[in-house]
Amino acid sequence: MFRKSLSAVILLSVASMQLPERAASAFELKSVKIDLPDSDRMFPAGPGSDAINNNCLACHSAGMVLNQPALPKQAWATEVNKMINNYEAPVAPEDVGTIVDYLTALKGAK
Ligand code: HEC
Repeated sequence: MFRKSLSAVILLSVASMQLPERAASAFELKSVKIDLPDSDRMFPAGPGSDAINNNCLACHSAGMVLNQPALPKQAWATEVNKMINNYEAPVAPEDVGTIVDYLTALKGAK
């Protein structure tokens, strides 16, 4: 008795399922083209920009750096070392000099 009514329930629920082609037509995907505004999430291209883009964007955008005042080279070196020593930024040691030079060229102060 129980088995009989169970199979009747299964039969009814299968019969009431929607047909697959009907479900598919409800989710038609279309490609749209949108233009995103330029952002300051990356550093502007130039000598050393690969090094700074690879090492300095894990925790904050480039804007965090680019919106600082111009600094002398030594101050940029201190800043990069602060990221490494205080915030444990995983900067490749061979990239430190390149990054400091890039920052000095872009936002250096005499
Ligand atoms: C491990 C995470 C991390 C990485 C990677 C990182 N930073 Fe930062 N950075 C921080 C934090 C945290 C702050 C402070 C944010 C705040 O004050 O809200 C900060 C702030 C800054 C500031 C603002 C001034 C200051 O001292 O607070 C500058 C400039 C900066 N970072 C430069 C860099 C440069 C250049 C690199 C690549 C060498 C880098 N950061 C990589 C975590 C990181």
